[in-house]
Amino acid sequence: MTDTTDTKNPTTPTEVVARLAKLFAEQGESEYLGEAVTQAEHMLQAAACAQRASASNALIAASLLHDVGHLFVGADTSEISGRDLMDAGTDNRHSHTGADWLAAAGFPERYLCTVEPGYFDQLSEASVYTLSVQGGPMSQEEAAEFAHGAYARDAVTLRRWDEAAKDPDADVPAFDHYRALLADLLIPLL
Ligand SMILES: [Fe+2]
Repeated sequence: MTDTTDTKNPTTPTEVVARLAKLFAEQGESEYLGEAVTQAEHMLQAAACAQRASASNALIAASLLHDVGHLFVGADTSEISGRDLMDAGTDNRHSHTGADWLAAAGFPERYLCTVEPGYFDQLSEASVYTLSVQGGPMSQEEAAEFAHGAYARDAVTLRRWDEAAKDPDADVPAFDHYRALLADLLIPLL
């Protein structure tokens, strides 16, 4: 089947989703930060974890797209705004923006290392590296502040799926499985 959608300048949910599918297909094959899976496999596995856990559609989408910024490296980045991607991870029943969610999503690794004894020890080597780049474990004060944020729980949950989404032998649904779900989330935003 030939996809005639204009992925160069996406303006409809279908076109945005087609652009994402193209990114996954063309840019997703690079390795995921030294792990045994590709970028695309990693995000698809995270989404599958979310779906298995009966997460909301917004959280499934967020899991699917949580590292999509990595796919822009080497890609033509002019076609889709970061705002589109952030909003795809927004729960439309609430007034919080995708930016709020992403702000929280940057910190759960640092949070978990502070509040859960032993969490650090089970991180992969690459995760230990990103943790150090982010500034290491939070202080007790930072952790308390983080826990009160609107998206803290979702961000922490996704962080656990992220760590589980590095299995070179996992058999999970492909990107197409999520097309309708993503388009539904984008409809009120475009
Ligand atoms: Fe990730």
